[in-house]
Amino acid sequence: MGESKLDHDKMDIQQFREDLLNWFVREQRDLPWRKDNQPYKVWVSEIMLQQTRVDTVIPYFERFMEEFPDMEAFAAADDESVLKIWEGLGYYSRVRNLHSAVKEVVEHYDGKVPDTREEISKLKGVGPYTAGAILSIAYGKPEPAVDGNVMRVLSRILLIEEDIAKPSTRKVFEAAVRTLIDPANPSYFNQALMELGALICTPTSPACLLCPVREHCKGYANGKEQVLPVKTRKKSVKHLSLLSAVLKTADNLYLIRKRPNEGLLANLWEFPTVEVATSKQYSTQRQVLSRYLEKEYETNIQLETGTFTHVDHIFSHLTWSMDVFAGEISKTLNHQDEVRLVTQEELETLAFPVPHQKIWKAYKEIYAMNK
Ligand code: ADE
Repeated sequence: MGESKLDHDKMDIQQFREDLLNWFVREQRDLPWRKDNQPYKVWVSEIMLQQTRVDTVIPYFERFMEEFPDMEAFAAADDESVLKIWEGLGYYSRVRNLHSAVKEVVEHYDGKVPDTREEISKLKGVGPYTAGAILSIAYGKPEPAVDGNVMRVLSRILLIEEDIAKPSTRKVFEAAVRTLIDPANPSYFNQALMELGALICTPTSPACLLCPVREHCKGYANGKEQVLPVKTRKKSVKHLSLLSAVLKTADNLYLIRKRPNEGLLANLWEFPTVEVATSKQYSTQRQVLSRYLEKEYETNIQLETGTFTHVDHIFSHLTWSMDVFAGEISKTLNHQDEVRLVTQEELETLAFPVPHQKIWKAYKEIYAMNK
C-alpha cells in the first residue's frame, strides 16, 4: 500500500532526500553514539533508546561504554552488574536480552555483529527496528528502521492514515522507507527521519514552519499534521496500592528480596512489599503489613506507627501507589537466595527499581544516614 501511494503521487523523491539530508548534516545533535558507527555502540544505543528519551539515555550510554567498552567485556559481565548498570532505565528485559545476544555474537559469530537482516534478526531482542537501525547506521545498508517516531513522521509526510497502534501497520511504513531511502547514505537517511521526529515533527504541535521537508509534506498541505498519526488508544492503566517496609536488624542489616525471574522488573531487588485492595488508614495498613511480614519471614517485626514516605510510580501499563513503613527485625532469619540481609554498602551495589530507589533515598534522608 505504501508503494502504490508513492507511485501515484508526484513527490520528487530525489529532492526530498536532498532537503532531508542537508538539514540533518546542519542540525543533527552531537550525541555520544554518533561519534563512530561501531555496530556494538549502535546496538547498545538503539536498545537504550527504545521507550526512553535521548536526554535520559546519554549518561547511561556513557557509563555503559566506560564499564563495558567492547562486546567481550560485556559478554563476560555477571548478571548482577548488568542489571545494576541499567538500574533506573526501565524495561529491564531489554538488557537481559542484549546480554544474551552479545554473548551469542562473541561465542558464535567470532565477535562480529552479523550484517544481514536474516542473521541479525535471530539475536535475542533484535526486532525489525533494531535490525534496520544497526544495518543502516553501522553497515550502511538500505534497510528501513521504523519505530513509532518514524511512523509519526511518515504518516504526516505521506498522509498515511493506517492505525499505527496495529502491529501490522509497521510493514506499510517499511515499504515506504524502502522506496524513499537514499541509497547513497542510508545511515543518514534513517537518522534524519528520527531526528526530524525528535526536533521538528514532534507528537503535539509539530514545528512545520521550521520543517526542511514541508514542501513535500502531504499532511501539512492538507491541514492534517495535527490529526496524524492515527493511533487507537491502548488498554487502560491498572492502579495498585502497595505497602512496603524498610526493615533493619539491631546490627544494621537490611532485609531485601529478589523479584521473580520473570514478569515485571524481573530479578531486581526490592524492599518487602505487599499489595492491598485499596488505600487504607495507617493503623490498618500497619497491621496488614505487619502480619504479612511476620508470616512471610517468620520473624518478629516492630513497625513504626506512621509511614515515613509515600511513593507514586507510573509504569507504561500500571501505577504503584506505595505507603512505606520503617521497622526493626528482632531475629535474624534463616534466609534463602532470594531473601537477604545486607549492609548499606551491599544494598547499594544491587539493582533496585526506581520506586524502591526513591524509598531508600527517603529513608536515608529521614534517618539521617551518612553516605
Ligand atoms: N532514537 C532512536 N534511535 C536514535 C538515534 N540513533 N539517534 C537519536 N534518536 C534516536
